[in-house]
Amino acid sequence: MSGFYIPQNNLLGPGCLEEISASISARGYRKALIVTDTFMEKTDTYKRLIRALTAAGCGWKVYNGTVPNPTVENVEEAYGLIAKDPCDFIVSLGGGSSHDCAKAVGITATSGGCIRQYAGTGKLKAPILPLIAVNTTAGTGSEVTGFCIITDRQRKVKLAIVDPAMTSWISVNDPTTMLSKPPALTAATGMDALTHAIEAYVSTNATCVTDALALQAIRQIIKFLPAAVENGADLEARDKMAEAQFMAGAAFSNASLGYVHAIAHQLGGIYNLPHGVCNAVLLPFVVGFNGSRSISGRFADIASCLGKDLINTNDRFSSKIVADYIMKLNARLGIPPNLKTLGVKKEDFELITEHALEDACAATNPVQAGAEGILAILKAAW
Ligand SMILES: NC(=O)c1ccc[n+]([C@@H]2O[C@H](COP(=O)([O-])OP(=O)(O)OC[C@H]3O[C@@H](n4cnc5c(N)ncnc54)[C@H](O)[C@@H]3O)[C@@H](O)[C@H]2O)c1
Ligand SMILES: [Fe+2]
Repeated sequence: MSGFYIPQNNLLGPGCLEEISASISARGYRKALIVTDTFMEKTDTYKRLIRALTAAGCGWKVYNGTVPNPTVENVEEAYGLIAKDPCDFIVSLGGGSSHDCAKAVGITATSGGCIRQYAGTGKLKAPILPLIAVNTTAGTGSEVTGFCIITDRQRKVKLAIVDPAMTSWISVNDPTTMLSKPPALTAATGMDALTHAIEAYVSTNATCVTDALALQAIRQIIKFLPAAVENGADLEARDKMAEAQFMAGAAFSNASLGYVHAIAHQLGGIYNLPHGVCNAVLLPFVVGFNGSRSISGRFADIASCLGKDLINTNDRFSSKIVADYIMKLNARLGIPPNLKTLGVKKEDFELITEHALEDACAATNPVQAGAEGILAILKAAW
């Protein structure tokens, strides 16, 4: 990707959810498909969304069947609601799972066929149906990104679909909708965002714009994630985390990711594990692996965001400092220490490796490995 793509409108800050009404009215849209899950459908945030749609003179239908790590079947069921009775636009309400399910529905609506055929980079035939992504976790950044991750249960893989044509119309990051996140979800989603920022910063596709976003995201996450986990009612910490994961999402959507995500997608596909937890466990080991060769002092830059002044040190040394910091942060946030604790089985390592090397995120990892390198990361993280 050579351009820099983010949604047309990006709403941030307490109370911004209500601002969507004016944009919907301005376009004259009459009917929305809401894509969410049964938990979110019972929340106050859902009621606020309905009030905002009503204020815009807009009706709606709801798909509430999205599961964590959304599936091809979710996409087909949700698309079934609009196949014969179309909606003007889609609203996703929830975390990355709702946004990705909604994007996949939007892809099916305008590009046709089965979602499986769009796995890979740049395969969409047309921009997706307009999407308002109301984000309630912080987070995947999916409300900002041109990425969509759908689980194919038949093949036990997560399909990574990458294309700027699926970038949403409006992203909404209202931190008051995130106050209800329990500590474990706050920790996992926050570590996902940290992984996005670090992988984007060392990606072979990084640019000056994605670098600026990634480094600021790292600074805000390490300052505010522990506070958000330790006191979920801390609105400032929630707000700063919402901003940080937004910046990390914008960074990686344009710079892409690396081996942490390429491997984590397989763990999600095989064991249905929470995405952020898989990333958090793998991150220090991939950082260690990437530090085995020089990548122009990038890990010293990251270390300086962590408060470690390592200017002019080599990547081998500074990557160890970064990996060590992440291990300690994981422990403080209650993230399990290794893949064994998550229930990952050694006998699946070869399958995980094979699919990780095919994942769209593998191509931009700064140090390219064959199967042996991925196996070494898995063994170290086990
Ligand atoms: N498309 C992208 O750019 C991208 C990037 C990273 C991850 N992902 C994908 O996103 C998915 C993970 O998304 P996620 O980590 O945001 O979690 P999620 O969307 O799977 O949600 C996890 C659970 O948290 C609940 N929840 C959501 N908001 C809540 C709130 N405010 N309070 C209480 N509970 C709440 C949900 O109902 C759900 O049960 C994975 O499938 C992953 O692969 C996508
Ligand atoms: Fe992620």
